[in-house]
Amino acid sequence: MDFLELCEKRYSCRKYLEKEVEREKIERCLEASRLAPSAVNAQPWSFIVIDDPILKESIAKETFDKVASFNKFSLTAPVLVAIVNENPLTTSFLGRFAHGRDFSLIDTGIVASYFCLKATEEGFGTCILGWFSEKNVKKILKIPKNKSVSLIIAVGYPADSHKKKIRKPIEKIRNYNI
Ligand SMILES: Cc1cc2nc3c(=O)[nH]c(=O)nc-3n(C[C@H](O)[C@H](O)[C@H](O)COP(=O)(O)O)c2cc1C
Repeated sequence: MDFLELCEKRYSCRKYLEKEVEREKIERCLEASRLAPSAVNAQPWSFIVIDDPILKESIAKETFDKVASFNKFSLTAPVLVAIVNENPLTTSFLGRFAHGRDFSLIDTGIVASYFCLKATEEGFGTCILGWFSEKNVKKILKIPKNKSVSLIIAVGYPADSHKKKIRKPIEKIRNYNI
């Protein structure tokens, strides 16, 4: 599979098989993530792989509620990976100081896509979750106050099928030298 095929193959999987996710494959996704670029090479991340079914269920339950139930599918994912923002103060200070931007959030987005693309190559489905109760997730995972959980990635063997990509046409997003 070449890189463009991999980008096309990755999609947000919202239904998973009850099939064990091998840790060695997760390790390879983490290795791809470790190699991701970050502003000033801060690498402002760590990962918590949640594959214990009871712990995983309690985290999944924090990604939806009665009003916003669209993440209920996370209960079917055998693994959830929480991306912890390790030193938001340093990187956000640098970013804000230099350009008024929090680079650590940009870094998190990049590392999440590295993880998901490698997971796709390993045969997994993934879905990046930005909607969850960070306060409750931090409490359950005993994450200290000075760190944050930016994203959670649902991982597992897909039980749904690849969806056609809905994207803006290239003419709407491509510009040279304007
Ligand atoms: C930062 C971020 C947060 C997201 N949060 C959620 C979420 O909470 N729930 C969900 O079902 N999908 C979530 N998604 C997935 C997007 O909806 C999805 O990537 C987009 O619709 C494009 O579809 P595709 O991933 O299948 O190509 C998120 C994606 C990103 C990048």
